[in-house]
Order: sequence, then C-alpha cells, then structure tokens
Amino acid sequence: MAEEKKLFKVTIDNITIEVEPGTNILTAARKIGGEVAPPAMCYYSKLQGSGGKCRTCLVEVAAGSAADPRPMPKLVASCRTNVMDGMIVKNITSEKVIDARKGVVEFLLINHPLDCPICDQAGECDLQDLGYEHGADGTRYEFKRRTFTKHSLGGYIQLHMTRCILCYRCVFVADQLTDKREHGVLDRGDHSEIATYIEKNLHNDFIGNVIDVCPVGALTDRTFRFKNRVWFTKPIEAHRDCDKCCGRVRLWLRGEEVLRVTVRKDEWGEVQSYDGKPGWICNTCRFEKKHINDWQIEGPTKVNRHSVIAQGHYVGVMKPEETIAKVMHGRAPKLLMDIHDVSDVNEPDIDLSAIPGPATSETFEKDKLDL
Ligand code: SF4
Ligand code: FES
Repeated sequence: MAEEKKLFKVTIDNITIEVEPGTNILTAARKIGGEVAPPAMCYYSKLQGSGGKCRTCLVEVAAGSAADPRPMPKLVASCRTNVMDGMIVKNITSEKVIDARKGVVEFLLINHPLDCPICDQAGECDLQDLGYEHGADGTRYEFKRRTFTKHSLGGYIQLHMTRCILCYRCVFVADQLTDKREHGVLDRGDHSEIATYIEKNLHNDFIGNVIDVCPVGALTDRTFRFKNRVWFTKPIEAHRDCDKCCGRVRLWLRGEEVLRVTVRKDEWGEVQSYDGKPGWICNTCRFEKKHINDWQIEGPTKVNRHSVIAQGHYVGVMKPEETIAKVMHGRAPKLLMDIHDVSDVNEPDIDLSAIPGPATSETFEKDKLDL
C-alpha cells in the first residue's frame, strides 16, 4: 500500500489549508485565491529560479511552525519562503505588510516613467495595478530618472529599458525556452539593464514569449505597438495546428482584424498549462499568423470583471428589467414619450462633423444654424 503523503497545515489570513511540503507561501496563498494571494511582479511558477527580486510578495510570518511557533523577525518574500507545518501567515491582515508594500511600489516607481498614456502595456500592466491597489498618493522623489542607450531586440520585439523593473523573467524565458540566449542583465546597481550583448538580434523561435512574461511595458510586440488600446480590443481563444508549439493562443481583435496574438494567461497572469506543460507559443503563431482565417476560433475569453479590458465587452451582461408592463399590470401605456424621437440631440439633419468646434446647445437650435 502506498504510503500516505504527509501534508503541512498553513493558515494564511485566518484561512487554513493543507499543502504538500516544499510549497512556497505564495503558491499556498494562491490555492486559497482572491486577495489572500500576495501580488507578484517577478515570481513566475513556470520559470525555474524566478522570484526573490521585487519584494512585492512580502508577508508577515506570525508563527514559524507548530514545532517552533516564534514569529519570523522580519517580513519575508512569500515566493521564496516554504511553508512549515502549523505556520501562520498574515498578508492583507497585516498592517506591516500593507505599509511595506506601499514602500515597495514607491521604490519600483522611482525609476519607472509614468508614461501609461502612451504605453502599450497600459490596461494590462501589473505595475499599474499594483500602483492603484497599494501605491502612495504622491511622490517624494525629486531626482532625475535613469536613462539608457536604446538597444534593438530585432524586428518583432521593442525594449523600453526605462520601464524595466529588473524582474529577470525575460532572462529566464530566454534561458529555459530557447536554445540560444543572447540577452541578459548587464552591469550592476542602478546601471543594471536588460541588453543584447553587442546589439545582437534575437532570432530564437520562442523568444516572443518574453513579451508575455514582462510585467510592465519594457518588452512589447512591435507588430502591435501603438495600433490600439488594449481595452478597445476583443480577446478570443483560438488554435491552429502548429508543428513548433501547442498552437493555443489568445487573439486580440478589433472587428475582424487580428491586432495581436499572445499566450493564454491564467488568473495569476501566467501562461496556462496544457497536459501539465506551459502553453508557450512560437514566433510564427505570434507574429506571422495575423489573419482570422489562420485560426480556428473557440470563443470569447473570459475576462476578469475587474479588468479594464472587461469594459468594452458585453459577455454575460445583465440587461435592466423592463418595468413598464409590471407597473401597469400588463396594460399598455396610453402615452409613451420616446426620448429618442423627441430629443433635439437626435436631430438627424445635423452633421456634427461639419460644425466648427464642439457641439453646444445652440448647435441644436436649428434657426441659428448655418449649415
Ligand atoms: S524587460 Fe520586463 S521581463 Fe525583462 S527584466 Fe525587465 S521588467 Fe522583467
Ligand atoms: S514575487 Fe516574490 S520577490 Fe518578486
């Protein structure tokens, strides 16, 4: 008879679960889900060695284990600390954590430009979300931000080093997914930068995945750059037979036009797995299959309702109840004013694009119009 595996009991924000020994606190918290899971800017469960760089996942360990229930003396990175049996962890229930996270956001933003209005990552940027949820109202920073010499990362990938938070995820992707890494983190301290050594282009088949793992807009897709804001696009799940990758992707459409192809991400912003393997996609699927007929459509992506991307889509929208019949006990009203028919604003003769300047109430006073 197979020996039963001993599980560790861990309590996070007053919720107790059992996990296998060797599980880190972050993964245990993700099993509970929701706000109990700390944010993560550098940890990526599908990339070996990731984590421990950004400190956004800090938690308080109120009791180390059942055997030694002393608290840990300082906050720990949950992605790099394994659970112990009987451990008690505080995430959103700890004031120290909330305060430290605010400091971490401030620190990450010291060198990050606030160029969200022109950044392609806006609307799906982890740092933007982190800033909204945990950031301070103002800035105390008075010095100049870092600047870098521009490096070309080939025809498909754009690097904006000023936006990089040095999470190392892209370096792990290049190391673990491609057979030839040509970029990495050069230099140290505030001179550290992601760069291709002597400006080499990156030609590996799977290098496009660096775009999807980048938590900020430091690595973006050149075939999508400035084409659209992400909240105006419609994500759908699609697949094709591909001899290099799993071929399961997310298409970002505007009408029938495929603006962008990405991996499918899970609720933690990581690539989804199929048959236990991460569904990374190849450059051909990502950059060269930009026609809707290249794909077999599966259906609309389920977008988290908190996401800004959800604002433009109407899947599962509840229509307000029609109350007239209910109020009138089934009788039809004798007189019903349809605002669309009587409102001057819907005056069909007025061509708004032909008037000089913005429309005002006078625009709709016909006799004053000179059109
Ligand atoms: S470029 Fe992006 S993925 Fe790479 S280290 Fe910087 S922030 Fe991380
Ligand atoms: S996610 Fe844990 S240190 Fe970055």
